[in-house]
Amino acid sequence: MVVPKPACLGQAEYETIAEVVDGVTIPVFANGDIESAQQAKAVMDYTGAAGLMIGRGAQGQPWLFRQIHHLLTTGQYLASPKSEEIHTCINQHLIEIRTFYCAELALRLSRKHITPYLARLGYSRQARKAFNLLDHPDLQDEFLNQCQASPDLLLSETSQDSIYPNNKNWNQAA
Ligand SMILES: Cc1cc2nc3c(=O)[nH]c(=O)nc-3n(C[C@H](O)[C@H](O)[C@H](O)COP(=O)(O)O)c2cc1C
Repeated sequence: MVVPKPACLGQAEYETIAEVVDGVTIPVFANGDIESAQQAKAVMDYTGAAGLMIGRGAQGQPWLFRQIHHLLTTGQYLASPKSEEIHTCINQHLIEIRTFYCAELALRLSRKHITPYLARLGYSRQARKAFNLLDHPDLQDEFLNQCQASPDLLLSETSQDSIYPNNKNWNQAA
């Protein structure tokens, strides 16, 4: 596996990955900074990699994998789910976290896993911070219900803050 620089600093070096693909006979998986299906296809086409590994790009959008599969198998772009389906996914994710982990850990891990959804939905950094300060699952649920009921309430001018501001936009490269 060829990985980007330590601690995810800088950009993934797809040129280097392409060189490795050319230089070895074993299958190479590319990874780093892949955020969309178009980008995934662009990286596979550019590097010639046998597959991809995706970390941060899947946070807050686990449907990314079906979008990539769809694009690679049909050539068609599959739209992201609508807000209602995303909230259903968030609620299901919370249920899974709370089922799998003890209460204290679930509360903390929920912050890490739910705020990427909120960022991708366009909620501001302040709103995500507010969610992270909630110290009870009922309060988390209430917050998310409020988001769903009144989406404008927590959207702000800074809503486009990226959770990964260093990412260059590969969507247009496809
Ligand atoms: C939450 C998280 C946990 C990770 N844990 C590890 C790890 O335990 N070992 C490792 O080598 N890389 C780890 N990584 C790095 C990823 O394997 C990957 O190289 C990196 O995130 C770049 O890919 P990405 O841009 O798709 O996230 C982790 C990344 C994330 C986001």
